[in-house]
Amino acid sequence: MMKKMKKVLCVLLALGMIAALAACGSTPAVSAEKNELDAIKEAGVLTVALSPDFSPMEFVDSSKEGQDQYVGFDVTLAKYIADELGVKLEIQAMSFDACQTAVAMDAVDMSISGYSWTESRAENFELSDKYYAGDNETEQVLLIRAADAEKYTKPEDFSGVSVGAQNASLQMDLVTSQLPDANAVTIGEIGVGVLELQSGNIEALAVADGNADAILVSNTDLVKCEWQFDVSSDFEANVIMMHKGDTALLAAVNEALAKAYENGYYGPWYEEAKAMAGLETATEVSIEDAPAEEGAAG
Ligand code: ARG
Repeated sequence: MMKKMKKVLCVLLALGMIAALAACGSTPAVSAEKNELDAIKEAGVLTVALSPDFSPMEFVDSSKEGQDQYVGFDVTLAKYIADELGVKLEIQAMSFDACQTAVAMDAVDMSISGYSWTESRAENFELSDKYYAGDNETEQVLLIRAADAEKYTKPEDFSGVSVGAQNASLQMDLVTSQLPDANAVTIGEIGVGVLELQSGNIEALAVADGNADAILVSNTDLVKCEWQFDVSSDFEANVIMMHKGDTALLAAVNEALAKAYENGYYGPWYEEAKAMAGLETATEVSIEDAPAEEGAAG
């Protein structure tokens, strides 16, 4: 009798476990019916926040208007992702810190704005797999006025000196951690930081190296300080920022990124962005070199 009861109990328990497992299995399917990815597809629009002050990743072509004025690597990437999802792209331009707040508050679907992977971002957001951002962030530098090239050559020279960096950026983290004796000044927009530097309100501006090159094209009164930040290779590539918990969207974005990588899109996109930003490209150099070669051959 006891044995029989035990057997029945065992069977009941086993059935219960199967039912529980089945319920677990069906949970994602049920919630997947109303996930953020489906909502985007239903709306037919992907809203992407970006701060267009970070050439060549995202900047403004002032000869254009409306959505067309936003150009750069991340804009090309955003268009590609919208295409992959089969929806239209709507760019919402705002300051860099506002982009991050907009994602946190779920006011936009994502932000593509040259984000480096950082631990705190990984804790607070869904971050995509890394995508290639050319050589934009392989180095992190300080812009200073050309006249001060001899004055600022090592970290100690910035002790008690005003050094600007964009609010909520990797560059601000670098200033506070590697120049702890400097007076860190928060800059809203990178273009404003450049003006602050030129007018003497700050003595240096921390920027990504590729961004520095783009700034130097039109600001010949500035130079890069010969001392550079010590940077981990973790920061070289960029990530897309999504709202915490938007895992269906994250999976679709990662799939699109893998495809872009496999198809070799990143390199040409970056070269195109650099050319648009007015940075000399390898192609331009070889065109200039061509006549001499022709002469030698003839
Ligand atoms: N990569 C740096 C960061 O993650 C700078 C990005 C700045 N982007 C911009 N659109 N202003 O903080």
